[in-house]
Amino acid sequence: MRKFTTVADIGPLDIALAEAAEIKKDRFAFTELGRNKTLLMIFFNSSLRTRLSTQKAAMNLGMNVMVLDVNQGAWKLETERGVVMDGDKAEHLLEAIPVMASYCDIIGVRAFAGLTDKKEDYEERVIEQFIKYSGKPVFSMEAATRHPLQSFADLITIEEFKTKPRPKVVMTWAPHPRALPQAVPNSFAEWMNVTDYDFVITHPKGYELDPKFVGRAVVEYDQRRAFEGADFIYAKNWSAYADPNYGKVISTDRDWTVDTEKMALTDNAFFMHCLPVRRNMIVTDDVIESDRSLVIPEAANREISAQTVIKRMLETL
Ligand code: CP
Repeated sequence: MRKFTTVADIGPLDIALAEAAEIKKDRFAFTELGRNKTLLMIFFNSSLRTRLSTQKAAMNLGMNVMVLDVNQGAWKLETERGVVMDGDKAEHLLEAIPVMASYCDIIGVRAFAGLTDKKEDYEERVIEQFIKYSGKPVFSMEAATRHPLQSFADLITIEEFKTKPRPKVVMTWAPHPRALPQAVPNSFAEWMNVTDYDFVITHPKGYELDPKFVGRAVVEYDQRRAFEGADFIYAKNWSAYADPNYGKVISTDRDWTVDTEKMALTDNAFFMHCLPVRRNMIVTDDVIESDRSLVIPEAANREISAQTVIKRMLETL
């Protein structure tokens, strides 16, 4: 595997899930694969889970790991060609990428959407430049429009906990005080669309996602109706995608918070969220602390999704 930015890059899901299960059974079975190989993780944005789980995954494979926080200690990077660099950005990505690539074998990149220019965000300009100019395998640690390592971990978690061959999975918008990217919901929808699950998306009017990601999902504007009979509730906030409100918060209606009363409408559903989560905005304390909450196993599976992807990249070197 030379790149991992979308569900298409992983190939058939049954094979990827079987490989992930094999890794989970013995995560140190492939330590020779990464000997004398280096992973460079580049963060344009903050992280807790991605940083730690991906580093651990690479260490499980015997790799050396370097981490660069672009906005803390590195030169500020210009990402657009043609810009007169007379501002605070001292280095251009077009030099920085090949320099960074010369020190490593595989590159992971986190670069969120700016949420001001939809075209720029949806063209994935930062990670696409790494793919084009590094000459190294590149994987997304959350880019502008997708978070595939998260979605892969979410899928592994659903497969581990489902009790029906075709569970009903509901992705629900929930309120948040700040504007968040659409990357996690886009990506979750993209991965769910490749399964045969019964997949429903619920959100207030105005929060419609890019139809390319919605795919075959049923969109239900009545959250309570969407929850009926659900086996998994996947909560997430996102900012508006549709113009003219791209990147804006258009509602913080706490009637959309996931609570015990709404969970009672489901078929004893599990609760999922990628974390970090704002308690009592997205989900109440009672729900996230309940024995049906999967947020911790879901986060733990980030190590497994990352290790599966990095292993495949090591195998192509
Ligand atoms: N879920 C997730 O990607 O967490 P971090 O932002 O902490 O890495």
